[in-house]
Amino acid sequence: MPTLTNKRILLGITGGIAAYKCAELSRLFTRAGAEVRVVMTRAAQEFVTPLTMQALTGNRVHMELLDFEAEAAMGHIELARWADLVLVAPASADFLARAAHGRADDLLSTLMLATAAPIAVAPAMNQGMWSDPGTQQNLAEVRRRGYHVFGPAEGDQACGDFGPGRMVEPAGLFASCAELFAGEPLAGRHLLLTGGPTREAIDPVRFLSNHSSGKMAHALAAEGVAAGARVTLISGPVALPAPDRVTRIDVVSAKEMLAATMQRIADADVFIGVAAVADYRPANTTPEKIKKDDESMNIELVRNPDIISAVARLDPRPLVVGFAAETGNVAANGREKLERKKLDLLFANHAAETFNSEEVAATAISADGEFEIPRARKEAVARKMLKLIADRLPATENSS
Ligand code: C5P
Repeated sequence: MPTLTNKRILLGITGGIAAYKCAELSRLFTRAGAEVRVVMTRAAQEFVTPLTMQALTGNRVHMELLDFEAEAAMGHIELARWADLVLVAPASADFLARAAHGRADDLLSTLMLATAAPIAVAPAMNQGMWSDPGTQQNLAEVRRRGYHVFGPAEGDQACGDFGPGRMVEPAGLFASCAELFAGEPLAGRHLLLTGGPTREAIDPVRFLSNHSSGKMAHALAAEGVAAGARVTLISGPVALPAPDRVTRIDVVSAKEMLAATMQRIADADVFIGVAAVADYRPANTTPEKIKKDDESMNIELVRNPDIISAVARLDPRPLVVGFAAETGNVAANGREKLERKKLDLLFANHAAETFNSEEVAATAISADGEFEIPRARKEAVARKMLKLIADRLPATENSS
């Protein structure tokens, strides 16, 4: 079964007997990992109760355009922006007519105009209404606007007729919707990243660390979600909020980062070590604050575990991608690191231009050669990096 992890599906239900099938449809979506919000027209509420849909989706059902309380919780524009896909099932003849004319006189029709997400409709009506030239003209118009049209199927109808007009069964609608997302470069993949600096305690108030802001890892995590992946970001202390739909595990030291990585690596398809892990930590952390009695002091340091190398030694292992912030000989040092750490791909850049900056340039280095990613905002560079990563992943049922 395809996964729809993180996907946000807005299910619009209009008035038709097939509305009862939306209960099963919403279960298929949520079982595949999607979040479902339901919008019902007035007529739809005659066929299936909002309470049923609320219980099945775990979300309040949206019904009225001009409802103060509902608008305060999640307004119609917010709802339109929230969706990754709008599916109207069943789509009645009247709804298709109103959609074809760009009406905005109830919540669902308004959302259809406001959303930038793809829209799909699953027509369901009596065969005579379906064959009527008016309906066919409306259908041609919504197709022209880029709506996906799923069905209708042909067969026995609730009204006793036989012919085209049955809503496609929930399993079929689920498969067609999953197909719309299957083209995403990281659909169905688990992306695990480390990011930010680590802090190595000297005493209860002092630590060793570095200038890493965590911006590159956060950009990769956010773009990973946009590319269809389930994303886990193991982050050292940073001043950034966790990106939407990313599971962030906050850690402090390199040892904690290693433990958190190993706990979650088993089902990862890709591991990206973006963190600027402190190479050394104090051999001893004193339980009491160190007094400044002496003119000088020595701190003995010991090597920290190399997290990415530990991941690269696993068998089986995910695709392992590293970063190298260098101060000179960027490409040569990067290639040496790729080989020594046994990485599949490495992004090398100038440390001075990377740390705490909004923009970055990088050289992608792999066994096949090198590729320059020109300087741009970290989000844009992250998209290019993920494309190079996706191209190296073995095909799966979901991604092919
Ligand atoms: O050896 P260096 O720190 O330059 O290598 C950088 C790469 O190795 C980055 O991908 C970084 O996240 C990873 N690394 C690590 N654990 C360490 C040191 C670096 O995972 N202790």
